[in-house]
Amino acid sequence: MKTIVVMSQKGGAGKTTLAINLAAAAIKSGFHTVLADTDPQQSAYNWYKDRQDGLEPDVISSFPDRLGENQDLARQAGVDYFIVDTPPNASEYAIRVAKLADLIIIPTKPSCFDLVALERTVTVLETVNKPAFAVLNECPTYGSEADDAEEALLQYGLTTLPNRIHNRASIRRHTTPLQTIFEYEPEGKAAVEFSALFKAIALHFLREHQAQRKLQPRKEAVLQHVQSQ
Ligand SMILES: Nc1ncnc2c1ncn2[C@@H]1O[C@H](COP(=O)(O)OP(=O)(O)OP(=O)(O)O)[C@@H](O)[C@H]1O
Ligand SMILES: [Mg+2]
Repeated sequence: MKTIVVMSQKGGAGKTTLAINLAAAAIKSGFHTVLADTDPQQSAYNWYKDRQDGLEPDVISSFPDRLGENQDLARQAGVDYFIVDTPPNASEYAIRVAKLADLIIIPTKPSCFDLVALERTVTVLETVNKPAFAVLNECPTYGSEADDAEEALLQYGLTTLPNRIHNRASIRRHTTPLQTIFEYEPEGKAAVEFSALFKAIALHFLREHQAQRKLQPRKEAVLQHVQSQ
């Protein structure tokens, strides 16, 4: 099971939007997926509760004290992706949650205020030392703002996934009828973007797995060498 924590200390960066639609994209690709809402605002959990019974993604309400336990239960139940939505403005809280991640996804708008506010998120990342990618969200569909933002993110030492999510009315609207983007506008551009974003994340895990397998024989050879001394 892979745990993806969607995190940003900046309010309104798109954490809940990404968490819901990444979970929906994972389900669409055939993966057993659970979304854990750790934000006291409970936006994702309330959205789920108000939906028709049984509609995926499954969302659980899970505060940091219970998150590890919920993560273990999900692993035992054969869940493939455990996606975690987090609140803004809570460093201690964020560190505890980030420690449980296999990958941290940091949505950010390409505006100056949002980029400056990332400093606090970078501090959390430095503390937990986990793989992380920034994702540019609410990008304008024209102009160089997003490219400039990507450069600025590099200054923070953050790698940005090439898959951007653009500013789209369908993304603003799909939660009102309690839907995911794949239910609201299955053939729309936003659905294509979220599918591509999920695939890029799945590819990261695949590459990580392949790199570990390549390292394993070398590790064994070193161990044998040490033992034969
Ligand atoms: N790509 C996008 N295009 C258009 N609107 C967007 C996009 N991403 C997010 N939004 C809108 O921006 C607002 C904030 O998004 P969201 O609630 O996902 O942010 P958040 O980081 O979870 O906020 P909070 O910090 O309060 O938890 C919502 O109204 C959402 O619909
Ligand atoms: Mg939120």
